[in-house]
Amino acid sequence: MTDGARARVSARVGAIGESATLAVDARAKALRAAGRPVIGFGAGEPDFPTPEYVVEAAAAACRDPRNHHYSATTGLPELREAVAAKTHRDSGYPVSAGQVLVANGGKQAIYQAFATLLDPGDEVLLPAPYWTTYPEAIRLAGGVPVPVHTDESSGYLASVQQLEAACTARTRVLLFCSPSNPTGAVYPPDQVEEIGRWAAEAGLWVVTDEIYEHLVYGEARHVSMPVVVPELADRCVVVNGVAKTYAMTGWRVGWMIGPADVVKAAANLESHLTSNVCNVAQRAALAAVSGDLAVVTAMRAAFDRRRQTIVRALSEIPGVTCPEPHGAFYAYPSVHGVLGRELRGRRPATSAELAELILDEAEVAVVPGEAFGTGGYLRLSYALGDEDLVEGVTRLHKLLAEAR
Ligand SMILES: Cc1ncc(COP(=O)(O)O)c(C=O)c1O
Repeated sequence: MTDGARARVSARVGAIGESATLAVDARAKALRAAGRPVIGFGAGEPDFPTPEYVVEAAAAACRDPRNHHYSATTGLPELREAVAAKTHRDSGYPVSAGQVLVANGGKQAIYQAFATLLDPGDEVLLPAPYWTTYPEAIRLAGGVPVPVHTDESSGYLASVQQLEAACTARTRVLLFCSPSNPTGAVYPPDQVEEIGRWAAEAGLWVVTDEIYEHLVYGEARHVSMPVVVPELADRCVVVNGVAKTYAMTGWRVGWMIGPADVVKAAANLESHLTSNVCNVAQRAALAAVSGDLAVVTAMRAAFDRRRQTIVRALSEIPGVTCPEPHGAFYAYPSVHGVLGRELRGRRPATSAELAELILDEAEVAVVPGEAFGTGGYLRLSYALGDEDLVEGVTRLHKLLAEAR
């Protein structure tokens, strides 16, 4: 639609697509509200309620007038201290409270990190498949996302050689996410170190997203890049939050940790953007990060059980290949073997078309790989109840086995 000679929406914002993951989830919820028995593998959030002691801290915070007014943009001092202590406890990264900037979720921290680090035309190396928000956050900051494609043959891990090949004189930042959304891939510690050393030598900044740090399974281990490559600390921003670890997606508390000058600049931006994060939510986050990790251990055991169930079930479907995810709560199977074949009178050529067909015919919601920069794949979140999970993959198997 145009308004005289120019579009009514700015080119910058008009170029932003809807979050595909939220769109799939919204469509599944709408169908369910209309009475359809849809099983949703779309949502990127734990199905557990927030732990009771966290909820109690928030309830108490509501009644405390100290929390009824504006507070410091950078975050409640107690929370910044607790995040610094938690970071040291969990990943061994020694940081001060002054290096912590609390934000409205890890998502805002990502936006602020890119807005603070990028000038127009700066390139960001972005291993693909990537979380759907990264390229939008990079472009909105004037940057240029440069996808570095990986596939199931490497377990969706980018190598230094691939990164080196994509690096140019304009490259400013490497985005690193392990465990990964959408693939569940976890970089082995020596590969994190190799990539970190390469980035440090290349003079790049690293934005490392550690939001799934506690959700690793089997032999996999999460290591924080600036811990294994300490010389990177002065050019590194760590993003994290309470959403995935403590089943607190709706509370909207995350943070970025970085060098003092970058954190100060990002805080200036945040002061004009959103002011402080809701004080009640910050008090809840304080209870979460100050507590022990017992609730996390229990949730991780449930995710691990579902992970094994889903990988086994997906691998039995003809035309589907599912590498074992070692972290987060996603499986990312290739469906190349199904595409182009006849299925219930249709012939899906892309994973987007296949995902639509699956929703229509099996009433199962999955997110197509196009949302993560790699068509030909589906993302299934296994953060849903065990029974629904089994019913969902059974329906999927029945449908896809009909492909001719
Ligand atoms: C890789 C990754 N980073 C960051 C986030 C943001 O989490 P939140 O904004 O809920 O803290 C998500 C959420 O889906 C994610 O998957």
